[in-house]
Amino acid sequence: MAGKIRALAAFAMTAVLAAGATACSSTRSDTESSETSSGSKLIGIVMPTKSLERWNNDGAHLEDLLKKAGYTTTLQYADNKVDQQITQLQNMINQNAQILVVASIDGTALGPVLDKAAQQKIKVIAYDRLINATPNVDYYATFDNYQVGKLQGEYIVKQLGLDAGKGPFNLEPFAGSSDDNNAKFFFAGAWDVLKPYLDSKKLVIPSGKKLASDADWKNVSIDGWSSQKSQAEMDNRLNSFYTGGKKVDAVLSPNDSLALGIEQSLESKGYRTGAGWPIITGQDADLANTKNILAGKQSMTVWKDTRALGDQVAKMIDQIVKDQPVETNDTKTYDNGVKVVPAYLLPPVVVTKDDVKSKLVDSGFYTASKLGL
Ligand code: GAL
Repeated sequence: MAGKIRALAAFAMTAVLAAGATACSSTRSDTESSETSSGSKLIGIVMPTKSLERWNNDGAHLEDLLKKAGYTTTLQYADNKVDQQITQLQNMINQNAQILVVASIDGTALGPVLDKAAQQKIKVIAYDRLINATPNVDYYATFDNYQVGKLQGEYIVKQLGLDAGKGPFNLEPFAGSSDDNNAKFFFAGAWDVLKPYLDSKKLVIPSGKKLASDADWKNVSIDGWSSQKSQAEMDNRLNSFYTGGKKVDAVLSPNDSLALGIEQSLESKGYRTGAGWPIITGQDADLANTKNILAGKQSMTVWKDTRALGDQVAKMIDQIVKDQPVETNDTKTYDNGVKVVPAYLLPPVVVTKDDVKSKLVDSGFYTASKLGL
């Protein structure tokens, strides 16, 4: 039933967008160069990399939605290489894109190329990750990044029973890539929840990481969101600070790719699922991690339904193209160093073993068979 509802919603969304694309193609004067030969709009979409699962879903869904609505799209992945992404953007500008949808690799590195976009009056939507240090980003569409971290912190507190006076427990915190604007929001959300328990010594960090406040998040960041790097870091912490029977009780992992490396490290050091396995958080509901949640190897993930984000961005594109007010719901939080970028935030959702089916399968995000259910 849920699948049918989504299909109807997608059809409705497509119809709205198609009306938009058609209406705009008929209303635009022939002197404006941003239409392509097909008479539809060229929308440029850049995503950071295919090596992190969620971006494949993001790109495919948004491109499919826009094409069905009659837009022309060009979708590029940059293998997490900033210069490659800049070149891709420049090419899209040269192709007279009307709108650029940008999931940046390094949100501070796009100022010069977006200056050129602005000269051609190309609108820019920051996708999931804020673009900083430039006035030439018009909108931001994302999930509530602070809330993602808050949900992770609250989950650890609840599962350890910290409010019931239990503890002390051993916590190992991790943060996302130091070049990713989201990472500081994820960490801040979690740290605002966890810090009081560190202050009261109900939580301790045996690895001794300096985290006097969430501003120190880069002391535990893992660049490129790399599973290999998080595994190596966890190996180092376990080898150096967990001898003589000391055990990890909880790991704050900001996303699933890091959680995967951490889980592999724990297994390699003799941890086994069940009573002695630590609480491990995550984000994105990646396939391997969702299977690990079902197997008891990960405690939870914060699910951000990438289809909903794509739907919202497609709606923004349609509103821009039809010269309508662009819907946002946060015009205060996301100061990019030059201006506060008007944003649309979607709500993230906690998924645990008990609700994988009701949330991820019944919504059509995964099929039961894909999860081995
Ligand atoms: C973040 C994104 C997360 C996380 C990470 C790796 O910016 O919001 O979903 O998974 O990048 O892609």
